[in-house]
Order: sequence, then C-alpha cells, then structure tokens
Amino acid sequence: MMSRFLLLHCLIIIFLFISAAAANTSSTITDREALLALKAHITHDPTNFLAKNWNTSTPVCNWTGVTCDVHSHRVTVLNISSLNLTGTIPSQLGNLSSLQSLNLSFNRLSGSIPSAIFTMYTLKNVTFRENQLSGQIPANICSSLPFLEFLSLSQNMFHGGIPSTLSNCTYLRILSLSYNDFSGAVPREIGNSTKLKILYLGRNRLQGEIPREFCNLTELEHMSLAGNNLQGMIFNFLLFYFSYACFCIPQELGNLAKLEMLQLFQNNLTGALPKEIGNLTKLKELSLNHNRLQGEIPREFGNLAELELMWLSENNLQGGIPRELGNLTKLEILHLWKNNLTGYSNLYINN
Ligand SMILES: *[C@@H]1O[C@H](CO)[C@@H](O)[C@H](O)[C@H]1NC(C)=O
Ligand SMILES: *[C@@H]1O[C@H](CO)[C@@H](O)[C@H](O)[C@H]1NC(C)=O
Ligand SMILES: *[C@@H]1O[C@H](CO)[C@@H](O)[C@H](O)[C@H]1NC(C)=O
Ligand SMILES: *[C@@H]1O[C@H](CO)[C@@H](O)[C@H](O)[C@H]1NC(C)=O
Ligand SMILES: *[C@@H]1O[C@H](CO)[C@@H](O)[C@H](O)[C@H]1NC(C)=O
Ligand SMILES: *[C@@H]1O[C@H](CO)[C@@H](O)[C@H](O)[C@H]1NC(C)=O
Ligand SMILES: *[C@@H]1O[C@H](CO)[C@@H](O)[C@H](O)[C@H]1NC(C)=O
Ligand SMILES: *[C@@H]1O[C@H](CO)[C@@H](O)[C@H](O)[C@H]1NC(C)=O
Ligand SMILES: *[C@@H]1O[C@H](CO)[C@@H](O)[C@H](O)[C@H]1NC(C)=O
Ligand SMILES: *[C@@H]1O[C@H](CO)[C@@H](O)[C@H](O)[C@H]1NC(C)=O
Ligand SMILES: *[C@@H]1O[C@H](CO)[C@@H](O)[C@H](O)[C@H]1NC(C)=O
Ligand SMILES: *[C@@H]1O[C@H](CO)[C@@H](O)[C@H](O)[C@H]1NC(C)=O
Repeated sequence: MMSRFLLLHCLIIIFLFISAAAANTSSTITDREALLALKAHITHDPTNFLAKNWNTSTPVCNWTGVTCDVHSHRVTVLNISSLNLTGTIPSQLGNLSSLQSLNLSFNRLSGSIPSAIFTMYTLKNVTFRENQLSGQIPANICSSLPFLEFLSLSQNMFHGGIPSTLSNCTYLRILSLSYNDFSGAVPREIGNSTKLKILYLGRNRLQGEIPREFCNLTELEHMSLAGNNLQGMIFNFLLFYFSYACFCIPQELGNLAKLEMLQLFQNNLTGALPKEIGNLTKLKELSLNHNRLQGEIPREFGNLAELELMWLSENNLQGGIPRELGNLTKLEILHLWKNNLTGYSNLYINN
C-alpha cells in the first residue's frame, strides 16, 4: 500500500518535471499568444524590431525585450521601450499572468489601456511614459494590482481624477502622472503612501490646496506639482511637515528631510517663504517661480548647501537678497527676476 503510494508520488513528480522541461505548457502558450497579439496590434514598427526579434520559430523566452522565469518559463518582464511603435494595446496582453514589469514607454501607442492590464495581479512596475494613450485610472487599481511599486503614465493624454484609492497600493514608491489632463483635487489620501520616493503630478489641471497629509511622506526625494492651478498658502504643508515631524519622530529632522527636488512653479500659491525650507538640506532643486509668493527670501536658504538650482522668479518677493546665498557654492542657476527685490549689492558670491 505504502509503496504504491510512493510510486504514484514519484510518477507525479516525474510528470511535473517533464512538463516543465518541455516548456510548452498551456500557460507558456498563452504567453506566446499574448505577445503575438501585441505584435499584431502594432501597425508601424520603423526599425522592424518585432519582425526581426519576435520570431515564432524561437521560444518566446529568447525574444528580445522578453525575460522569463528560469523555472516556470513564464514571461516576467516585457520591455519594449523607445522603438517608436505605432498601434494599440490588445487586451490579450493581460494574459501574461506572471508579468512583474511592463515597460512600453517612448512609443506611439494610442487608444486606452485595456482593463485586463489592470488585473495582472503580479505587476510591480508599469510604465507607459510618452505615448498617446488616453482614458482614466480605474478606482480599483490597487485591489487589482496590490504589489504596484512603480506607475508612470506621464506624457500621455489621460484624464479624469487621480483616484484617492491609489493610497491602497501600499508598496508604491514612484508615481508619475505628469503631462496629462488629470483634473480635480490632489487626493489627500496620497499622504498615506508613505513609501513614496518620487511623486510627479506636474502639468495637469489639478486644483485646490497641497494636502497637509503630504507632510507624512518622509521618504519623498522628488516632488513636482508644477504647472497646475493649485492655490492657498504655499507652505502650509511644509510647515506642518516640520511641526509634525518634531512632534512625531523625536530624531534629528535632518534625517527626515530627504527631499532633493521640490517643484511647485506655475501655480497660484500665496504666502511667504518659511525659513524652515533652509532645513531641507538635501535639496538640489527648488523651483517656486511663477506663483504669487510674498515677503523676503529667508537667510536660512543659505544653509541649502547642496542646492544647484533655485528659481524664485515671477513672484512678489520683497526686501534685499540675503548675503548668505553667497554660501551656496554648488548653485549653478539662480532666477530672481520679476519680483520686487532690492539691495542686490548685499550678495557676495563666494565661488
Ligand atoms: C511547442 O509547441 C509549438 C507549437 O504549438 C511547436 O512548434 C514546438 O515544437 C513545441 N515545442 C516543444 C519543445 O514541444
Ligand atoms: C526566423 O528564424 C528562422 C530560423 O532561425 C529563420 O530561418 C527565419 O528567417 C526567421 N524569420 C524572420 C522573419 O526573421
Ligand atoms: C534560446 O536561448 C537559450 C539560452 O539563452 C539557448 O540555449 C538556445 O539555443 C536559444 N534557442 C534558440 C532557438 O535560439
Ligand atoms: C524615434 O523617433 C524619434 C523622433 O522622430 C527619433 O529621434 C528616434 O531616433 C526614433 N527612434 C527609433 C528607435 O526609431
Ligand atoms: C521596478 O523598478 C525599480 C525602479 O526602477 C527597479 O529597481 C526594480 O528592479 C524593478 N522591478 C522589476 C520587477 O522590474
Ligand atoms: C482600499 O482599502 C480599504 C482599507 O483597506 C478598503 O476598505 C477599500 O475597499 C479599498 N478600496 C479600493 C478601491 O481598493
Ligand atoms: C488615509 O489617511 C487618513 C488620514 O489622513 C485616514 O483617515 C484613512 O483611513 C487612511 N486611508 C487608508 C486607506 O489608509
Ligand atoms: C500622519 O500619519 C500619522 C500616523 O499614521 C497620522 O496619525 C497623522 O494623522 C498623519 N498626518 C496627517 C496630516 O495626515
Ligand atoms: C533648522 O535649522 C536651524 C538653522 O537654520 C537649526 O537651528 C534648527 O535646529 C533646525 N531644525 C531642525 C528641526 O533640524
Ligand atoms: C488664484 O487664486 C485666487 C484666490 O486665491 C483666485 O481669485 C484667482 O482666480 C486664481 N487665479 C487663477 C488664474 O486661477
Ligand atoms: C554664510 O555667509 C555668511 C555671510 O556671508 C557668513 O558670515 C557665514 O560664515 C557663512 N556660513 C557658512 C557656514 O559658510
Ligand atoms: C515693492 O516694494 C515696495 C517697498 O519695498 C512697495 O512700496 C511697493 O508697493 C512694492 N511693489 C509691489 C508691486 O508690490
């Protein structure tokens, strides 16, 4: 009885082994059909990339731009960016049910992203940057793609609101939606996405205030909300960042301030520049130009030792230029034009 059971067990293992080795299981066939469907939806391929590299006489895992799992032979990465491919995205692509990374950026794909793509449970990285795609981000994106880490839809024609449910993607580290036609408010729930390192929402039609909840984004390195129609006191959220940080995490604030890039230019923001910006000592770029900012440039800005680029032009800043700015030895670009500043002779350039 026991030996018969063992024999059966062995047979099952041998069967599994053979079917894996043959690499022609129904799921690998599905993967091939999904990719061939994509190939068939490309109407113009100026470098003949697909014709040359996606040849049905070679296994899918050998195709350029395709990476498979060594054991299962399932497609895990599809990277066909920068090929100027014209065409549309077929829903069959959603059958690549082991895909973790999908990069179709820098092509000329049009139409919408089929809803099947937004149900590929294993996806972590998705970038459609610089195409001609349209449509909306589905509100349930994070229940379908719970492992999403990196989403870029920038430089397309997407519209509608930015779903507040994006904060349900608990692994999200990069969110780039700039240069589209997104409208409505910046969802305050994004302040819950505390793993975010990069947040680009610039060049859309967003309105309202910068949510205070963003003060909780302590991993943030780059943030751009430039070129929208954001209003209100510019640095409510930053001031809150500092008071909250001091309240919540009694470590040195310097450890929290990872921000390297802050772009809020071309909005309708008001208020004074708070001296606390001088504590964001990792900043390399500070672009606040073309708003309605008032008051003086705080001398604490002279502490921004890493700063390479500072745009404060086209505001209503007043007073003299603090001589401490002369301490910014890495500064390459300083734009102050179209303000109401005086006393330029205060500035000593040290380098
Ligand atoms: C897999 O299937 C294809 C056609 O479906 C066939 O041409 C190929 O020879 C098969 N490969 C193996 C290793 O069985
Ligand atoms: C596909 O590969 C086969 C064998 O490697 C080759 O003979 C054939 O020309 C290739 N087809 C294309 C379209 O490149
Ligand atoms: C596919 O790639 C594998 C490993 O890189 C290689 O051994 C094999 O010869 C390739 N098959 C074809 C048909 O090119
Ligand atoms: C894609 O198009 C751009 C602009 O027309 C061109 O500069 C680039 O070389 C093209 N790339 C390829 C791979 O054809
Ligand atoms: C996803 O993108 C990140 C950042 O670009 C990269 O480090 C990571 O290896 C990618 N993961 C996959 C599965 O491609
Ligand atoms: C978001 O997460 C919350 C709490 O985990 C859950 O109740 C809600 O249904 C989720 N919403 C979506 C659209 O995923
Ligand atoms: C997001 O944070 C708010 C407070 O800012 C909280 O009320 C809400 O439950 C959080 N939502 C999720 C999905 O974590
Ligand atoms: C920041 O996060 C903490 C802990 O989750 C929460 O209690 C607090 O309300 C959040 N602050 C804001 C402004 O959302
Ligand atoms: C902010 O910078 C000032 C110097 O401008 C310093 O005295 C202060 O301790 C810093 N605050 C924090 C919380 O790091
Ligand atoms: C800027 O905001 C003010 C209110 O703070 C509003 O009256 C004005 O219309 C806004 N300007 C634009 C261009 O939206
Ligand atoms: C910054 O500049 C001021 C005035 O120019 C100078 O007195 C001070 O020593 C400088 N501080 C540092 C840290 O270089
Ligand atoms: C510029 O500043 C001066 C005083 O420094 C003030 O009298 C004047 O009204 C300001 N101009 C504007 C346009 O705000």
